[in-house]
Formats: sequence, structure tokens, C-alpha cells
Amino acid sequence: MRVLVVGGGGREHALVWKLAQSSQVQEIFCAPGNAGIASLARCIPIEAEEKEKLLDFASSQKIQLTVVGPEAPLLDGLTDLFRENGLAVFGPSGAGALLEGSKIWAKDFMVRNGIPTAAFKVFSSPGDAFRYLQEASYPLVVKADGLAAGKGVVVAQDYREAALAVERIMEKKEFGASAGEKIVVEEFLEGEEISVFAVTDGSSYVVFPAAQDHKAVFEGDIGPNTGGMGAYSPPPVLTSDLADEVNKQIFEAVLAGFQAEGIDYRGVIYGGLILTSKGLKVLEFNARFGDPETQVLLPRLQSDLFPILYHAATGNLSSLAPPVWYNDAAVCVVMASGGYPGKYEKNKKISGLEKAGEVENTFVFHAGTALEDDRIVTAGGRVLNLTAWDLSLADAVKRAYSLTKIITFEGVHYRRDIAYRALHP
Ligand code: AMP
Ligand code: GLY
Repeated sequence: MRVLVVGGGGREHALVWKLAQSSQVQEIFCAPGNAGIASLARCIPIEAEEKEKLLDFASSQKIQLTVVGPEAPLLDGLTDLFRENGLAVFGPSGAGALLEGSKIWAKDFMVRNGIPTAAFKVFSSPGDAFRYLQEASYPLVVKADGLAAGKGVVVAQDYREAALAVERIMEKKEFGASAGEKIVVEEFLEGEEISVFAVTDGSSYVVFPAAQDHKAVFEGDIGPNTGGMGAYSPPPVLTSDLADEVNKQIFEAVLAGFQAEGIDYRGVIYGGLILTSKGLKVLEFNARFGDPETQVLLPRLQSDLFPILYHAATGNLSSLAPPVWYNDAAVCVVMASGGYPGKYEKNKKISGLEKAGEVENTFVFHAGTALEDDRIVTAGGRVLNLTAWDLSLADAVKRAYSLTKIITFEGVHYRRDIAYRALHP
């Protein structure tokens, strides 16, 4: 089979890495890919947003499965275009991707389908929002409606912080014009967060293991949110009873909702959940694999990834035997550019990658790297994903951090406490 992976981050490197192990996959292309992906796939200079070019490439190169990594092309209808042209593609339709692309759509969908989530109100004018926030009790949460790369959510401790968030989202449009047209103001929930994943063909689903990511930039979950500074799997807080509840209350309810509403959804249902004293609640949904969660899920997958994605894309997942998972725990530590998630510099030479490649049970996924005169340099905020697996989580953590002694680049920063909630509960 000839496979095209769309995207160029650590998640896509992990997808390519696992697909490259499949006996059913002969050739992998990645658009646009990165310096790490280039050693496993043929990288082509087409951006994930270039719909028509991707279609031309997939048609002319006789691609048999396209796997879409990031959310933006999903919302932009890339999979609709591919399907209209008879191509197999893994990823929900543009209508289905609204589950991630509009917080308001997702909240209404959850209410319609009885999926547990925080109480909320929607505002489309800053004036109404300010008036409401003056009378509200705190803390509460202010969210931009549209895509904001994980950064459009503010937990406000008082009116001043909430009003500042409204100003940044709705008035200054710091997260983009459309993301800032409306906001959701939401009840603050307390509890431990986990990310849960199911791959679906729209009628049946396969559960992937859960993971916990670390969104805040600094140790102890302090500082602004990022796309994710690290992750581990499995999170011990998800007991098997809770996992059964996740299947019923989340995955089955979402699928029933899609079917009732005629939404074509062939891809990942990613639930960002919080385990509160009043039970499970959904903080958000995403319409794709998590990044960096995928980097800790795929090393745990013993089965071939290709048939799972292919059968989801073509609509007969139920014919497939359930995937088998290793018992190992996996950990991913994100190495980021100095300054991220704020301004940062690029083109810093990365050293130690070759030596790190010799450490057993580890893999360094590239998130933001590029090749410059045969040297690998930084090319993004999140640069590398140091990933390790072992029988115990503690040993996997040690292994992942051993790589930080080998790899470095100017200005590098990373959290030193990934998986702390599981190791020191
Ligand atoms: P979201 O993008 O909606 O998942 O929000 C990003 C992060 O903001 C979450 O991972 C939580 O840490 C925090 N958050 C979002 N909604 C709430 C809420 N209702 N209560 C408490 N924290 C929240
Ligand atoms: N790690 C968070 C996300 O993928 O949205």
C-alpha cells in the first residue's frame, strides 16, 4: 500500500514511524514532513493546508490511504474533497471536525446528546460578557470559540483576569478573527485530567489507551498553556470501571449523536476529560490524534496500525480483531525552543541525535526540525519529543530523561516533571 501522511510534527512522525513497521505498507509520503520524518518517508513540499495540491498528489501517485494529522485541514474539508474524488482518507468530514473547531458547536452537541460537560454560557458581544462576568462567581473559564492551537482558554481567578481574556479574544482578536467572534464562559471544574482516544469508522470503534498530557509550560503545571510539553500513558487514575464509563458516556454517546445527525466521522474521537467528584466531564473534544499523546500511544501498540486506520477510513472496522497493546508504560518529554509558547528563535543546530538513537527502548520524534546544509536545526516551538518505554512508568521516565543528557540545542527548555502526577500522587 502507498500511504500519505499529512502534517509535519511529532504526531505525524509517530504515525509514520508506526506505519513504516507495517508489512502492508510499501511506501510512505509525508506532506510536508520534517527532518526526522525524512528518514522514514518521502517528504513532499506541500503544506497541510494546500487541499488541491494534496488531492492532485494523492490521485497522481495512486495513494491508497491518506492519514490527516492536524485539525486545520480537517475543518477546511480536506477529507470531504478526497472522498468526493473516491480516495480513502482517515479523518472526519469538515462537519464532524466542528467537534474540535467550534467550542460552541461541541457544547451544544454534548447537551443534545447527553454527554457530561461543564455548565456554560455563550456570548457574542464583549459588552454582554463583561456584564455577566461582573456578577459571576470565580474561578471560571473563558474560551475562544474557534481553533487557537490550545491557547485560547483562560482559567480566570477574578473579574480582572476574565475581562482581560475577553479583551484579548474578542476585542484584540489575538487568536484570530473567527476564533474571537464568540466566547464560551464555563463553570470551573476540579479534578485530574486525562485524554482518551477512540478510532471509529462512524459506526463501530476501537479504544486506544488513555494518556495524560502536560499543557502548562512550566513544572508543577504553572504558566501559560502550550500545545503540550509532555505526556505519558497509561494514567493510573483511569481504572477499568472508569474506562467502561468512558466508553458508554463518551464514545458511544458521541457516535450515536453523529449517526442521529447524519455526520460522517471516520477518524479519532479525542476526549479531554476531567475526573471530578461528581463524575466524568468533557472539557473539550478534538477530532484527531493528540500531540504529544500519540507519541506515547503508538510505542504501546503491538498490532499493525495500518489496518486500523485503513478500515476506519473505508468503513469496516468491525471486521478487524481488536488491537493488542504492550503492557509497557511510555513517556514523552518535549524539548522546546527558548521562549516558547511566546516568541522564539529558529535555526539552532541540534546535537546528540545520533548518539541518542543508540539508547534502547527510546525514540526521538521530531516535532519542529529542518535540514539545513545536512545539519538538523530547530524549526518550531516544540522541537523534539524524547520518547521512552519500559515495564514501569518510573523506568520509562528515567529512560526518557537520560536522552536530555545527550541531546541539546541553544536555548532548549523542557519540563523536568513529566508524569509527576502518576509517580507522586
Ligand atoms: P480545553 O482546550 O478546552 O481543553 O482547555 C485547555 C485546558 O484548560 C484544559 O486542559 C484544562 O486544564 C483547562 N480547562 C478548560 N476548561 C476547564 C474547566 N471547565 N474547568 C477547569 N479547567 C478547565
Ligand atoms: N496535547 C493536546 C492536543 O493534542 O490537543
